[in-house]
Amino acid sequence: MELYLDTGNIKEIKELSDMLPIDGVTTNPTIVSREKKQFAKLINEIIDVIGVDKAIHAQVLSKDFRGMIEEAKFINTLHNNIYVKIPVIGEGIKAIKELSKLGIKTTATAVFTAHQATLAAKAGASYVAPYVNRLDNISAHGIDVVKDIITIINNYKFNTKVLAASFKNSQQVLDIIKSGVHSITVPVDVMRHMIAHPLTDYSVDKFIADWESVYGIGSKAND
Ligand code: E4P
Repeated sequence: MELYLDTGNIKEIKELSDMLPIDGVTTNPTIVSREKKQFAKLINEIIDVIGVDKAIHAQVLSKDFRGMIEEAKFINTLHNNIYVKIPVIGEGIKAIKELSKLGIKTTATAVFTAHQATLAAKAGASYVAPYVNRLDNISAHGIDVVKDIITIINNYKFNTKVLAASFKNSQQVLDIIKSGVHSITVPVDVMRHMIAHPLTDYSVDKFIADWESVYGIGSKAND
């Protein structure tokens, strides 16, 4: 399973990419706008932090085919391992089909139905990104949509991975991981919830206290 950080914040990316076995970073226009930096500069800063071998997913703004193609060609020049995120409106599916012919890798984004994911996969998207929390918020069960998409992709052997996105809590992430999803992208606050547990902190402190009561404060296993 691939693991992505869903943020454009350099400080957070540095901290968590040092700590965790991440495969890359996903952004969208909202995430980029939070950083108030020039887009290409931000992408270069992210590459500097995560390394050239890791993947980045970055999104176009245009809603028309021509504009999407122009933006995608530019975004594609920013990094060797970049996936251009294209929203799955009609013009977007047309753009995914064209970009696939041009050899530009795409991630179909703002996916809310298995229908959209199927059409994007058939058009040649490398990834499809269903929005789990936004589906849950309208009582549409993000997990069911993700499971349907995985089934369809496996049945037809599409050369497409599911990149589950839009998480607001760690239980959503767990449900999706259990579904056998190919990739997840997780915001930093949710990632921290996946790491932390008060009983782990308690256990670590107790081990140290027990050790130090016998071997002395500050002593270590290699002393
Ligand atoms: C991926 O980058 C998606 O755009 C993102 O996960 C959407 O998340 P949100 O629903 O929290 O905005």
